[in-house]
Amino acid sequence: MAKPKLLITRKLRSIVEERAARDYDVVLNPEDKVFSTEALIAACREVDAVLPCHSEHFNADVIKAIGPGLKIIANHSVGTDHVDLDAAKAAGVFVTNTPDVLSDATAEIAILCMLGAARRGAEGDAMVRSGKWTFWSPDFMVGRQVTAKRFGVLGMGRVGQVTADRARGFGMEIHYHNRSRLPEHLEKGAIFHETLDSLLGVSDVLSLHCPVTAQNTGIINARTLALLPDRAIVVNTARGALIDEDALAAALASGKLFAAGLDVFRTEPGGNPALAALPNVFLLPHIGSATEETRDAMGMRALDNLDAFFAGKEPGDRVA
Ligand code: DGY
Repeated sequence: MAKPKLLITRKLRSIVEERAARDYDVVLNPEDKVFSTEALIAACREVDAVLPCHSEHFNADVIKAIGPGLKIIANHSVGTDHVDLDAAKAAGVFVTNTPDVLSDATAEIAILCMLGAARRGAEGDAMVRSGKWTFWSPDFMVGRQVTAKRFGVLGMGRVGQVTADRARGFGMEIHYHNRSRLPEHLEKGAIFHETLDSLLGVSDVLSLHCPVTAQNTGIINARTLALLPDRAIVVNTARGALIDEDALAAALASGKLFAAGLDVFRTEPGGNPALAALPNVFLLPHIGSATEETRDAMGMRALDNLDAFFAGKEPGDRVA
């Protein structure tokens, strides 16, 4: 029987590409070129399945233009905001993601962003690197300590829970807001807030871990930032669209916020020049899941979903 034809849109870890080449008639992208929308549509028309990253956007028009040949979008990401799930469902295209396997790596980056922001990591690195470190005093580069402060988690799913566990290691008191309250064994003493506003009022550090939807786009904005304690720290390793970046820049510039640690932006790649111009922002280029172990596991998980689909089974991580 002919192998299903699979397009892998970006360069993946070699162990993943080798497995894909063994089991599928695979189209790889060894130069890791970024697909234009037209090229993505044309390439997807030629295959049974696509294994994309969050960098490829499957909106309703793209899914329609691809037509009936494509059977499954097996994402190499936990986030699926780059795919119009309703349009995929309506077109009969399966969609899967890769949950769980990136929770540890993303939690590590959230903690790095928190510490980088609280302890002025970007300023310090730039100073030493540029040869401008010419002075030391007890009053020099003084940051905020996070130990024993209150850690607010917006979105207590898998990544939020692991990040909360890491923050517990700093003796932080965990608070969270989520669609529903967690059972006691997962809550582990964390304090549930029925509303976002209530969570914000107690978040010395606010860390975002919810998927972005039409309802929560820009949920961190001028109004909600004002509810944070003065000199709070905002951490975002989820999606840039959760934040109104103009409002964030204003809160950082005014001193309302002490600092922010950001791995994600509204414009990617690229980021936000207004945020980059501020000294009290620690910036990373969307590398939450970028460890060898996690990238291997994400690729394998996406292939597991494809294998199940082509074996006539329900893929474990079906989201549409
Ligand atoms: C995810 O898995 O959603 C990460 O943001 C990387 O794409």
